[in-house]
Amino acid sequence: MRFSAYLLLSLVPTVLGTSGGDLDDGLTRRQSSVDSFISTESPIAKAGILANIGPSGAKCQGAKSGVVIAGPSTGNPVDYAFTWTRDSALVYKVLIDQYIQGRDNSLLTGITNWVASGLRLQQVSNPSGTVSSGGLGEPKFNRDETPFTGGWGRPQRDGPALRAITTTAFANYLSKQGNTSYVTNTLWPFIRLDLDYVRDSWNLTGFDLWEEVNASSFFTTAVQHRALREGAKLAAAQGDAARSTAYTTQAGNVLCFLQSYWSSSQKYIISNINGGGGRSGLDANSILTSIHTFDPAAGCEAATFQPCSDVALANHFAVVNSFRGSLYPINSGIPAGSAVAIGRYKEDSYFGGNPWYLTTLATAEQLYDALYQWKKIGSITVTATSLQFFQQFSPSVAVGTYASTSSTYTTLTGAIKTYADGFVAIVQKYIGAGGALAEQFTRANGTPASAPDLTWSYAAALTAFDARAGVVPGSWGAAGLTAPAQCSTNNGGGGGGGGGNTVAITFQETATTVWGENIFLTGSIDALKNWSPNDALALSADSYPVWKITVNVPAGANFQYKFIRKFNGAVTWESDPNRSYTAPGSGSVTLNDSWR
Ligand SMILES: *[C@@H]1O[C@H](CO)[C@@H](O)[C@H](O)[C@H]1NC(C)=O
Ligand SMILES: *[C@@H]1O[C@H](CO)[C@@H](O)[C@H](O)[C@H]1NC(C)=O
Ligand SMILES: *[C@@H]1O[C@H](CO)[C@@H](O)[C@H](O)[C@H]1NC(C)=O
Ligand SMILES: *[C@@H]1O[C@H](CO)[C@@H](O)[C@H](O)[C@H]1NC(C)=O
Ligand SMILES: *[C@@H]1O[C@H](CO)[C@@H](O)[C@H](O)[C@H]1NC(C)=O
Repeated sequence: MRFSAYLLLSLVPTVLGTSGGDLDDGLTRRQSSVDSFISTESPIAKAGILANIGPSGAKCQGAKSGVVIAGPSTGNPVDYAFTWTRDSALVYKVLIDQYIQGRDNSLLTGITNWVASGLRLQQVSNPSGTVSSGGLGEPKFNRDETPFTGGWGRPQRDGPALRAITTTAFANYLSKQGNTSYVTNTLWPFIRLDLDYVRDSWNLTGFDLWEEVNASSFFTTAVQHRALREGAKLAAAQGDAARSTAYTTQAGNVLCFLQSYWSSSQKYIISNINGGGGRSGLDANSILTSIHTFDPAAGCEAATFQPCSDVALANHFAVVNSFRGSLYPINSGIPAGSAVAIGRYKEDSYFGGNPWYLTTLATAEQLYDALYQWKKIGSITVTATSLQFFQQFSPSVAVGTYASTSSTYTTLTGAIKTYADGFVAIVQKYIGAGGALAEQFTRANGTPASAPDLTWSYAAALTAFDARAGVVPGSWGAAGLTAPAQCSTNNGGGGGGGGGNTVAITFQETATTVWGENIFLTGSIDALKNWSPNDALALSADSYPVWKITVNVPAGANFQYKFIRKFNGAVTWESDPNRSYTAPGSGSVTLNDSWR
């Protein structure tokens, strides 16, 4: 959010919310103050989410059953009463996790309503296309599920991946419960459409989660990787071996590409690449990525930028520092090593370019996730990459591994817990009346600003509070993953094999011909000669009337093709439509066609 001109700060009401913990409080007092804030705010945040879900949420008149609106405001100061695929998926991930952890059985009806709404929305033709021609990348819809046809930053390719991740969590839970019919008949077809979209489009640019930059976004790439990884397992469980291999292959390619966002010289993640110039690249995008791809089983692994990995901690250090100093007057004078209010990125100007509640909470959550993980592992490892992060808490700390029995471990974890709580305390300090969480709070004095009651802000509060309490989401298969040294591409049909990863496709075309007439093949990718009748590949007639050729095409490539006849220099094409196929991730395939 949000892709529109920013409004005047003077429109913003000047009432300050409840006052929270003084940042100069002693450690004990602050922690108990954060504890009590969390216990009052948790039910408010949960109610804030439910109020924004149709059909009966208190603040979302006109929203269809299962529709999650981004916020109730319909025009003053901003119009957020739409359903974004991204926000909706992130919000339902929180509710589904609560449900599957046995914390709130009353959520089930809402969950199935959300799935039913998602199934309808997938089929709504919209300015990005239809369900089969890119429409799944449409960022938002009207709350009555009609398409939003105004100008917008589209497509946004994180939405289908996030929706698949959320739905997969539910599917895995139901499968374990033995409820296979709903998974097979309802959830898998829903998830599969989103995953096929990811499989075919991950290597294309699109708009980032802030809807501003048309490029490659770290957040988008990372959640696409996660979705494909989990999807491959689900596909296998559903007996769809071809999709399982295709998703696995593409997941490997995406994981490889993910590494290219890391700048080893600057020691942070450049959140937008392949476009998005004019910014430092330091962006809370990367911190959100770390929490939304956290896998409690994956230790502090760097390939997936786990919250306690050295790369993610170095990045946390750099992103937080980019908000220090005079950028936000409310952060002025806060010393290094203490929490500050966090925005999206320092160059932000939308609605005044203020700090956001959800990014400040995410900055805490990454640290809570890291603390959870260090406790589980029983040690902290400091590398040259993460050294500066740790020196904030203990200037003399050196590269090495510190067991949980060491005093260094105790010092570091204690200080990092206090630091993390500091971000929550900032949210507490600047929260709206009655615990309300808007989108932003002003850089000048912390007054709530922009969209009131942002559903995502409430969801971000709940996940941060859970992480602090050691309640973490399920594992998704990140453990042990390493990025291949050489990356392959799949740009959805434009050719490009990168290296190595190809699959052999045997094309069999049954066609009767006259003497001297021959059958050729051409199509939309380099391997099929890019629709050139002159360069078309000749088939062999050894098994006449079946004509054959085997072609190596990039693994996972989606392409179109046709057969042609050549006779005495004259070319005859098969009739429309073009044939189309998506290559599997590995192995070989035979396709059987007949002349038409
Ligand atoms: C399976 O799960 C769906 C969704 O929760 C539910 O509607 C259905 O009743 C369940 N079926 C069985 C047999 O438990
Ligand atoms: C496509 O993938 C290749 C290989 O990882 C990468 O170099 C390129 O930047 C990617 N492009 C996009 C738009 O994702
Ligand atoms: C986004 O960038 C791609 C090329 O990277 C371009 O094809 C597309 O038209 C751009 N979309 C918009 C809306 O600018
Ligand atoms: C088949 O593909 C070619 C090349 O992209 C395109 O010009 C043609 O319109 C396509 N035919 C149909 C029926 O879509
Ligand atoms: C095509 O026919 C071959 C036998 O000639 C068979 O092995 C293969 O499975 C068929 N392919 C498809 C996609 O049905």
